[in-house]
Amino acid sequence: MIGIKEAFALPEGVCYLNAAAIGPIPDVVQQAGIAGISSKRQPWIRDRAAARQMTDELRGLAAGLIGARSSDVAVITAVSYGIATVCAGHRPPPGSRFLVLAGEHTSLSLGLARHAEVHGCTLEIVEPTHGDDWTAALTAALLRPGAAPVSFAGLTPLHWTSGAVVDLSRIIPIIHAQGGVVLVDATQAAGIMPIDVTKLQPDWLVFPTYKWLLGPFHLAFLYVAPQHQEIQPLEQHVGTRQGPNPALVQDSSQLAFASGATRLDSGEPDTFAAIPMGLAALTFMTGWSAEAASAHVSSLTKIIAEGLKSLSLCTVEDRFRSPHILAVRGQSPFPESMVARLAARNVHISVRHGLIRISPHVYNLDADAAQCLTALSYELSR
Ligand SMILES: Cc1ncc(COP(=O)(O)O)c(C=O)c1O
Repeated sequence: MIGIKEAFALPEGVCYLNAAAIGPIPDVVQQAGIAGISSKRQPWIRDRAAARQMTDELRGLAAGLIGARSSDVAVITAVSYGIATVCAGHRPPPGSRFLVLAGEHTSLSLGLARHAEVHGCTLEIVEPTHGDDWTAALTAALLRPGAAPVSFAGLTPLHWTSGAVVDLSRIIPIIHAQGGVVLVDATQAAGIMPIDVTKLQPDWLVFPTYKWLLGPFHLAFLYVAPQHQEIQPLEQHVGTRQGPNPALVQDSSQLAFASGATRLDSGEPDTFAAIPMGLAALTFMTGWSAEAASAHVSSLTKIIAEGLKSLSLCTVEDRFRSPHILAVRGQSPFPESMVARLAARNVHISVRHGLIRISPHVYNLDADAAQCLTALSYELSR
């Protein structure tokens, strides 16, 4: 199944290597969206109980992707929404230290900066000391003699610009030992890299569907470890309350919260389109294991990385390279105009913080790796 281009609207000759920006939806996801939107034309036919069940089925698939229980996952709208939920319910000691990696995505870094400001905490931005060794840099920051304990860290399994991995299994226990908590933004990992929250033990983990899960916008998931599930949701609405039909209860003081992380679901989750599309996308993506998807994309990034060596271009060192995101470093930062120049040769990539970011997915084939190398070699030798 992996490598199946026919399941997507990817014409011959189009080399799309940009899943880290936006994953294209497969045809089955488009069909689920069209069917969902069409049902809004005739709302009287809609089975509300079945729609609710669809949300819970989706929650179960999302939980399965990260080794969680369904009840530990909230269905939300965006990574930034999940981060805002976590921050609203977390009370760090004033004056304590937060950690984030340098150059992190703004949904994470802005959320942490605001959280630190509200509670009078210090946000330390960790820079790598040796190449792309973020794990060593984080360890050094955590164990720096005389530094205050870390109360909160917002981390990623890999850096979103370079794809360099962060060994969270080594970092999270150090933070927990200092009494701190860890929010993992798994946007660039969920579905394409194996994740198991029972082993990793994050306090929270958040990911959207629109990139590696090949789903729609406005749909994301927040895993909440059981010890943090009693917090207040960002919004008050009946979707997070218990009862056969909570909307009809007159005395709202009688409405108990739904159990587990469901109480943190965002409002109006049942958009007619996003939930059916998400369900189709996760069903599609769970047709194989994250290990199999990872092995497929890793074979492609390896071909490209080997070819780049012969062009004398640098990538992240092999030992830190993720299977699915390959960054190219030039002697100086690449300009944004590289995107349009390569697109003119039908090769679609991103430039992030001066790096060319190449991110293949299950629909890419060896021929895409070859097309990408030819285009890079042409553009970079001009
Ligand atoms: C690491 C990371 N986090 C978050 C996001 C997007 O988050 P949001 O759902 O808030 O738009 C991205 C998008 O590129 C990302 O790379």
